[in-house]
Amino acid sequence: MALYDILIEHLVEARNVAIFTGAGISAESGIATFRDPDGLWSKFNPTELASMKGFLRNPERVWQWYNYRRAIIADAQPNAGHIALAELERNTPNCTVITQNVDRLHQRAGTKNILELHGNIIDNHCVKCSTPYTHEINIQSKELPLCNACGGNIRPSVVWFGENLPDGIFEKAEYIAGHCDVFFSIGTSAEVYPAAYLPFTAKNRGAFCVEINPTPTSFTPYSHLAIQEKSGECLPCIVELLQQYHSL
Ligand code: OAD
Repeated sequence: MALYDILIEHLVEARNVAIFTGAGISAESGIATFRDPDGLWSKFNPTELASMKGFLRNPERVWQWYNYRRAIIADAQPNAGHIALAELERNTPNCTVITQNVDRLHQRAGTKNILELHGNIIDNHCVKCSTPYTHEINIQSKELPLCNACGGNIRPSVVWFGENLPDGIFEKAEYIAGHCDVFFSIGTSAEVYPAAYLPFTAKNRGAFCVEINPTPTSFTPYSHLAIQEKSGECLPCIVELLQQYHSL
């Protein structure tokens, strides 16, 4: 527990807390990460499945893959890590989750203040005119949904390789990372930019930086505290210690 003492001291003093998450926070919910040895990118080709070029070449294949992922996500439940972060938000004055995940498990666990850097896998919109597509997606159907406004193909509202992040979102995330007192980097390989700049922004602006990841990343040597454990195991302990402190 001594490992966490310094973190609790910083959390107690913090006016602003930023929590940057990646696929690892959802691993204990049974959702595969991307770059672990058995991750999605070891089995599937990102250029085929997560780029506009791949979509235009074979939209059926891309829909099939997203529907496969949608089915897994719909069956999954938020894990102890997501739940602890929602609890942390309730116990901390100004707490923002900045996630790269598209699965919406943070929101299902009760997190309110969240920025989705890479969009989400629930919403859809037209590739041609960008009109949101609000009809329910039948994940069993092999028929491609088409835009009601212009007849264009509908795509999932996730960010693909080579695309910009949703308007203004990175600027907001950068502001939050640059103005926080404690910054968590949880379950991310920190390899995908611009998101991966955020831990360095926080560090350079003087935040106390904590990494939670069983495997070291390029940010590990720069973090003040690297907790090499699963997020679903260590986050509940951290939140409990913080609550104990407040109840003293
Ligand atoms: P990665 O798959 O690159 O990294 C997942 C990280 O989670 C790894 O560093 C693991 O060690 C760690 N991890 C695994 N299990 C964990 C656990 N139980 N607790 C804590 N950490 C654990 O996923 P991201 O960094 O999220 O982009 O990938 C970034 C982006 O690359 C994704 O948003 C996606 C992908 O291409 C888009 O879809 C645009």
